[in-house]
Amino acid sequence: MRKMNKDYLNFGIVGCGTVASIHAEALKSLNNARFISVTDSNLSKAREFAQKQGVWAHDSFEDMLNDPEIDAVCICTPSGFHAENAIRALNAGKHVVLEKPMALNTQDCERIKEACAKNRKLLTVISQLRFSNDVVTVKEAIDSGKLGKIVMCSAYMKYWRSPEYYSDVSWRGTFAFDGGILMNQGVHGVDMLLYLAGNAKVINSKGKRLFHDIEFDDTVISMLEFESGALGVIEASTCAYPGLERRIEIIGTTGSAVLIENMIDKLIIDNNTVITKENLFKCGSANNPASIDYVCHARQIDNFIRAVLYGEKLFIDTEDGAKAVALIEKIYAAAL
Ligand SMILES: NC(=O)c1ccc[n+]([C@@H]2O[C@H](COP(=O)([O-])OP(=O)(O)OC[C@H]3O[C@@H](n4cnc5c(N)ncnc54)[C@H](O)[C@@H]3O)[C@@H](O)[C@H]2O)c1
Repeated sequence: MRKMNKDYLNFGIVGCGTVASIHAEALKSLNNARFISVTDSNLSKAREFAQKQGVWAHDSFEDMLNDPEIDAVCICTPSGFHAENAIRALNAGKHVVLEKPMALNTQDCERIKEACAKNRKLLTVISQLRFSNDVVTVKEAIDSGKLGKIVMCSAYMKYWRSPEYYSDVSWRGTFAFDGGILMNQGVHGVDMLLYLAGNAKVINSKGKRLFHDIEFDDTVISMLEFESGALGVIEASTCAYPGLERRIEIIGTTGSAVLIENMIDKLIIDNNTVITKENLFKCGSANNPASIDYVCHARQIDNFIRAVLYGEKLFIDTEDGAKAVALIEKIYAAAL
C-alpha cells in the first residue's frame, strides 16, 4: 500500500445515530485524526449532528466519497448496510473504520475483503474491547501459558433491551438489517472468545423468541469446541431485565480469568489472585448502547491510522471481523 506524505487522516462519519457520537469523540481525541464531516440518509439528522460537532455535513454518502479531502470513513450505519457502504467507500479510494458486525453473512465479508485487496485500502472492524487494558492483561496471561491448559471458555451475555428499543427504530429487530442478537449485541462476546481462546466449532445451539416481537430469536445458547480442545458455551438474551454485565470466563489447569465487561473480576494464577482493574472506563453496555466510553474506540482508530500512514500492523483486520460473523452464522444454522 502506498504511504501518505502527511501525519494525519481526514475522516468523515456516515450514519449519525447512537454510535456516531462515540466515533466523533474518539476522532476529536486523536492528534493524528481530523474530523471533517458527517452524512446520513436523513439529511436533517446529519446537519443537526454536524452543527453539534462543529463539522460540516455532506449532502449524501456519494458526495462524501467524491470529496478528495476525505481519506477515511467511519461507517456507523445499521448493520445491514455495512457491506454495501464499505464496498462503496473502498471503491472510492477511502480507508474504512467499519462498525461491528463486519457484515451479516460470510459472502458479504468476502466481498469486502476483495474490495480491500482490489483497491489496496485498509479496513478495520470495530471490536473496541480488545483495546481494553484488562483484556490485554488476560490475553497475555493466556498466551504466555500462565493459565496452563485451557479447558473451558464461555461468554454470558444477559442483556436487557426494552420493547421500545426495537419498536422505535425501524431497522432493529429485522433479520436483514440487525442480524439477530448475536450479530448485534452478542458479536462483542463472540469476538472476545475467538480472540482469547482461538477458533471454535459449534457443537449445537438452541434459540427461542421468548419476549420480544422481532424477526429472530431473542434468546440463544450454543455449545462450542475450540481448536485447542477446550469446551465452552455462549448464552445471549436481550430479555434479561435489568441487564447483567457481560461475563467471559477462561478456565485453565493452572489459572483462570473472569472478565466482567472489559474489567478483570478475577485473574488467578497458581493460587495467587491478581486484581488489576486498570480500566476506569466502560467499553460495553448491558442495558444502554449509548453508555460506552470512547477510549477503546480511540485506541482502535489510532492503530488503524498508524497502519495506514506508517504500515504498522493493523490489530483488527477483515479476517478477524469475518471470523466472528462465520461463527455466529454457524450458531444460527445449528439453532434452526
Ligand atoms: N461498537 C459498539 O459498541 C456499538 C454500539 C452501538 C452500535 N454499534 C453498531 O453501530 C451501527 C449503528 O448503530 P446505532 O445504534 O448507532 O444505529 P442508529 O439507528 O442509532 O443510527 C444509524 C444512523 O444511520 C442512518 N442511516 C441508515 N441507513 C443509512 C444509509 N444507507 N446511509 C446513510 N445513513 C444511514 C440513520 O438515519 C441513523 O441516523 C450498528 O451496526 C451497530 O451494530 C456498535
